[in-house]
Amino acid sequence: MSHKILILPGDGIGVEIMAEAEKVLDVLRGDFSLDIETIRGYLVGGAAIDASGNPLPEETLQQAKAADAVLLGAVGGPKWEGLPYAIRPERGLLGLRSELGLFANLRPAVLYPQLLSASTLRPEVVTGLDILIVRELTGGLYFGQPRGVRVLENGERQGFNTLVYSESEIERIGRVAFETARKRTKKVCSVDKANVLECTELWREVMNRVHQEYPDVALSHMYVDNAAMQLVRYPLQFDVMVTENMFGDILSDAAAMLTGSIGMLPSASLNAEGKGMYEPIHGSAPDIAGKDLANPIATILSVAMMLRYTLNAPELATRVEKAVGSVLDAGLRTRDIYTDKDRLVGTAAMGDAIVAALRHMNR
Ligand code: IPM
Ligand code: MG
Repeated sequence: MSHKILILPGDGIGVEIMAEAEKVLDVLRGDFSLDIETIRGYLVGGAAIDASGNPLPEETLQQAKAADAVLLGAVGGPKWEGLPYAIRPERGLLGLRSELGLFANLRPAVLYPQLLSASTLRPEVVTGLDILIVRELTGGLYFGQPRGVRVLENGERQGFNTLVYSESEIERIGRVAFETARKRTKKVCSVDKANVLECTELWREVMNRVHQEYPDVALSHMYVDNAAMQLVRYPLQFDVMVTENMFGDILSDAAAMLTGSIGMLPSASLNAEGKGMYEPIHGSAPDIAGKDLANPIATILSVAMMLRYTLNAPELATRVEKAVGSVLDAGLRTRDIYTDKDRLVGTAAMGDAIVAALRHMNR
């Protein structure tokens, strides 16, 4: 049966990088007989606001619900920054995450050995880096109620957000972390702020409880401030890290830089049925949009994650990853990962080279 994939480029560089990911999908369909149907032409984020005033139009949401997977570029940009929160581009993305129940966000930070010199950290600190951040994606500070800005009796305004997690929300993300760790080196580090925040003290307690079902996996706990420090001090100590929505947002950007560029990192957001949305972890980068400068690799590697987690085609996923590796071997670099020993290429040329490498593998 053909799998339906909804293509949502979004804003900024989302459009250019998605074009490259689609080239990869075309080759997978044409040369590797992958049975997929891509659905295009629907809007999300700023593009949707411009067209209809709504960052997540109903027809886009319906298509996303009907699809087997969503491939998303990026949303947002300065043009929409002054708008009320309810109609900002980011609401489109957050709406998709929550409406589709995509509570488990997997963000691998893997260092390609070819990019060792692109990292700002010393080679011995990052060589062999292979971390998986499991970020809770539909709860916590991002979604907690009540939220808003209220006026106090003295007339001063006060902003407030709420950090909330129910036991079942912590349990299910904990299970994802332990299950994934079983397929790796069986080590989970749960990140919280249990010394200060009640909510994350409960998080720690529930993680310990769920851990009893996974005695073969080692569980450690770390405060988020220390985790941020350890990520740049000695990142090789980590395998799977599981954490609250906002902590995960912050730590995954830090982990991304260990690999040389945020332009390299894909992500998968899964619901309880394994349905997924796949997107690069970087944003819409309006400053370089439309200039053929963006790195399409994070989006192409997101296609690989989709092959693995939704389309059940792990061999093809490996091929896509190998194609990326071979292009890096050949010295091709977009600007974000360029050092003076390399060959500088643009977005489209990078996509074309990966497609050519993929085709070559089928001979
Ligand atoms: C991410 C992004 C989003 C987030 C933004 C664009 C809403 O930073 O996916 O990490 O904060 O989750
Ligand atoms: Mg982020």
